[in-house]
Amino acid sequence: MNRSEKRGELHAALWLGLSIAGSIAFAAAYVLGGSTQAQGVALALACFGIAGALVTWSRELLPHGQVVDEQHPLRAPEAERADAVSRLLSGEAEIVGRRTWLVRLGWSAVGFLGLAALFPARSLGPSPQGQIGTSSWKSGLRLVREDGSLVRAELLEVGSVVTAFPEGLVGPDHAMNMANDAIMLVRVQQDALHLPDARRDWAPRGFIAYSKVCTHAGCPVALYRQGPQQLMCPCHQSTFDVLDGGSVVFGPAARSLPQLPLQIDADGTVRASGTMSGFVGPDAWETSSG
Ligand code: FES
Repeated sequence: MNRSEKRGELHAALWLGLSIAGSIAFAAAYVLGGSTQAQGVALALACFGIAGALVTWSRELLPHGQVVDEQHPLRAPEAERADAVSRLLSGEAEIVGRRTWLVRLGWSAVGFLGLAALFPARSLGPSPQGQIGTSSWKSGLRLVREDGSLVRAELLEVGSVVTAFPEGLVGPDHAMNMANDAIMLVRVQQDALHLPDARRDWAPRGFIAYSKVCTHAGCPVALYRQGPQQLMCPCHQSTFDVLDGGSVVFGPAARSLPQLPLQIDADGTVRASGTMSGFVGPDAWETSSG
């Protein structure tokens, strides 16, 4: 083997080593908390390493140029045959065993990548049935902000909005609940409301609350337009009427935002006085949660 072939083998081996390191990093990133950015970078390295090795192999190790193979008799001369057999028997099997280690390293890199890809398979199940689309809200639960502080009526002026959650269900341990339970609490002029009769007392003093989960595809309905009194989802611009029970006024959402009935204590504490008026999130979630 000449020097350029040795250099080519070394380059290919380095690429494969990079791929194996990427696969290990991918599995580690998944086990250590699942940062999607870190997993993406590691997976890219793993695939890039294998691609680099293949390109290096073809450019630096495969013979190039035109090769003319003269037709020769099928049976080699006896002397040549005897020589080949003796070389094989003596262990001088360079032709047969050449670059075996590099091929093995290549298969190892593919194996590591396959193994690493098994880790995220854990995320395919079990299904979070019974968690998505269901809300923790029930009568008596007080409204708190993301930091756990109580929402007080006197702190919210007409035309302002705050995201709220049920007391005791905020923080890292309640991430799934928080995604389902988030509500937009808006304060409007009470006499501007035109809610259905059954909801007349759901918005005391103009405090009205809707689920923050868009009924189209589940994005957070995070934008409040004070002039027309609308809540808007930034994903596909579904727009909901705050004064009219969260009805859809624009966009692809087909269903109103669920409303949470409220009551206000004498000391200004805001509480839920019942459960959500409907299923939280897109209809597809309701179907999948059976
Ligand atoms: S997810 Fe809200 S409009 Fe599509």
